[in-house]
Amino acid sequence: MNKIQKIRQVEAFAKRNIVHHDAGHDWWHLHRVRNLALYLQSAEGTGDRFIIEISALLHDIDDKKFNKIAPAGTEEKIRLFLQSIDIDDIIIKEVLFTNNNISFSTGIKPESPSYEFRIVQDADRLDAIGAIGIARAFTYGGYRNNPIYDPEEQSLSTIGHFDDKLLKLKDLMNTATGRKMASERHELLEFFLKKFLEEWDLSKEP
Ligand code: ADP
Ligand code: NI
Repeated sequence: MNKIQKIRQVEAFAKRNIVHHDAGHDWWHLHRVRNLALYLQSAEGTGDRFIIEISALLHDIDDKKFNKIAPAGTEEKIRLFLQSIDIDDIIIKEVLFTNNNISFSTGIKPESPSYEFRIVQDADRLDAIGAIGIARAFTYGGYRNNPIYDPEEQSLSTIGHFDDKLLKLKDLMNTATGRKMASERHELLEFFLKKFLEEWDLSKEP
């Protein structure tokens, strides 16, 4: 099997393993993150494209928001699959590291991560902001049936999630290219929030 055939196998494995996710974490999220990550790789000139592509496609497998599987089960499943298509152990280790450490909500910041990890994490974060990020946030909030906004209880609403996470991402980017793209996407979040709050509270309408 050549590299392209291996990537096709990884795509099929990823699709099989995310069928129970919300529409914000579906195949198209993986597709966008993979493309963003490969773009960041060419702009930055760092990291191995094959590792980046596999890591991006598998970064959300058994995401804790949708699964109650012990991490050991996830590692074993991914490892066995990658071994079955003849991926080197050193690459498997990288892919598992990304899957384990990419999440913002765990709050864990790994020490001196690889270029591949930094790039895939930036790509995932870029997909959480900008126009697509806004669409994804309300998709996930709807999936959980969270309120759109609650002026009395910020933390449970999707608008509250902007403060909790989305507005912080631009300052957490790992790469220069990612930072530049994030700052543009961040501006749209700010504009959206301003308009949203103006519409909510008529006294704030200009
Ligand atoms: P994490 O990094 O916290 O594991 P993900 O990157 O998997 O989360 O989350 C992807 C997207 O899911 C977020 O960018 C956001 O759009 C959505 N999301 C997560 N939690 C919430 C929430 N409480 N309300 C709205 N959207 C959420
Ligand atoms: Ni993701």
